[in-house]
Amino acid sequence: MITYADRMKNVSGEALNDILKYSSDPSIISFSLGSPAKEVYPIEKIKEIMSTVMEKDAIRILSYGMSEGYMPLREAFLNHIAIPKGIKADIENILITTGATQGIELISQTFINPGDVVLVESPSFLTSLQVFLKYGATLVGVNMDTDGIMCEDLECKIKKYNPKMLYTIPTFQNPSGKTLPSHRRKKIAELADKYDLLVVEDDPYCDLRYTGDVVPPIKSFDETGNVILANSFSKILAPGLRVGTITATKEIITALVLAKGGADTNTTIMSQAICAEFLNQGLLPDHLKEMVPVYLERLNAMLDALDRYFPKECKYTIPQGGLFVWIEVPESINTRELLFIAANEHKVSYVPGYPFFINPKDGDHSLRLNFSSNTPEKIYEGVKRLGDLLHSIING
Ligand SMILES: Cc1ncc(COP(=O)(O)O)c(C=O)c1O
Repeated sequence: MITYADRMKNVSGEALNDILKYSSDPSIISFSLGSPAKEVYPIEKIKEIMSTVMEKDAIRILSYGMSEGYMPLREAFLNHIAIPKGIKADIENILITTGATQGIELISQTFINPGDVVLVESPSFLTSLQVFLKYGATLVGVNMDTDGIMCEDLECKIKKYNPKMLYTIPTFQNPSGKTLPSHRRKKIAELADKYDLLVVEDDPYCDLRYTGDVVPPIKSFDETGNVILANSFSKILAPGLRVGTITATKEIITALVLAKGGADTNTTIMSQAICAEFLNQGLLPDHLKEMVPVYLERLNAMLDALDRYFPKECKYTIPQGGLFVWIEVPESINTRELLFIAANEHKVSYVPGYPFFINPKDGDHSLRLNFSSNTPEKIYEGVKRLGDLLHSIING
């Protein structure tokens, strides 16, 4: 009889299957996926860039590459993204990964032994939780207030559990949309040093800011090398390219490169070359300028629709950027059970709260809505459908 590895026993695909199923059904207005707006993909620019890079570097693009990444992209990321954000780094501190997802996977493979405690925000990104569980981590939640992680609770949990690492999404958090203020970021870097804690800062949304002031990454406060930063081109360029980056000490990068060698040897070089050329041609700032008003309009449409159509008993976050609004509904409503009715009978979908929590029951009365991938008209219509359904349950 075929037997499966024990490590897969903790991994569940239910939530992801629902997300993909309902997002691929054109009859459903889906607020499930965390995708950028298709309308703002820079398709023509990428077509041009593909032929430019083939002219310049066809042999390298079609060959195996270094596991560390395509040198022009490591340099471009360093100069156009990392250094301007106040990060002290050099080429040897940059690793290119196949999306931030692979970065999280390689970090987990490299650092987590079964039973190690990993602190996570509560709620946190469902895919990362699944990866940590796959490597046998014991997950412990850290409390958040409206601004994200509460540093007092973090320090308490560090003392109590002696964790291996903290995993945090400090900017426009997935799923809550919350952003950690600068002084708490600094404090986290200090706690990492004080308690010799590894901090994994997953920051794919930091450049998708629509209102408020820019906040520096935790990594920019890191004096000791305890912070590993994961970034991604998925939300600022296109998720299909599957390009992410890790910024960390040389020693950590060397360890992660070993893990990457066995995972996929190298991230697809054409994708890396596209990202490099996009940065080197100076196209990112204008691309962001084009995206921000589109997303802001969609966020405003969603907030206005929630105000108009959702029962007053529901509470929601007002993010300054990113892709998600997080909603808490009354305890009489189970969002996991409601999804089936919402999607099949009312043709609208969302992600229920349960997969974002260590204890799924903690998410029974919450849900995540994505606002980036539908037009304002669709957003109004979808939120109205969901609001009507919630009203009908609350009013019996
Ligand atoms: C917090 C967070 N980390 C990582 C990812 C995955 O990014 P990538 O497409 O670069 O693998 C996502 C995507 O939704 C995310 O929300």
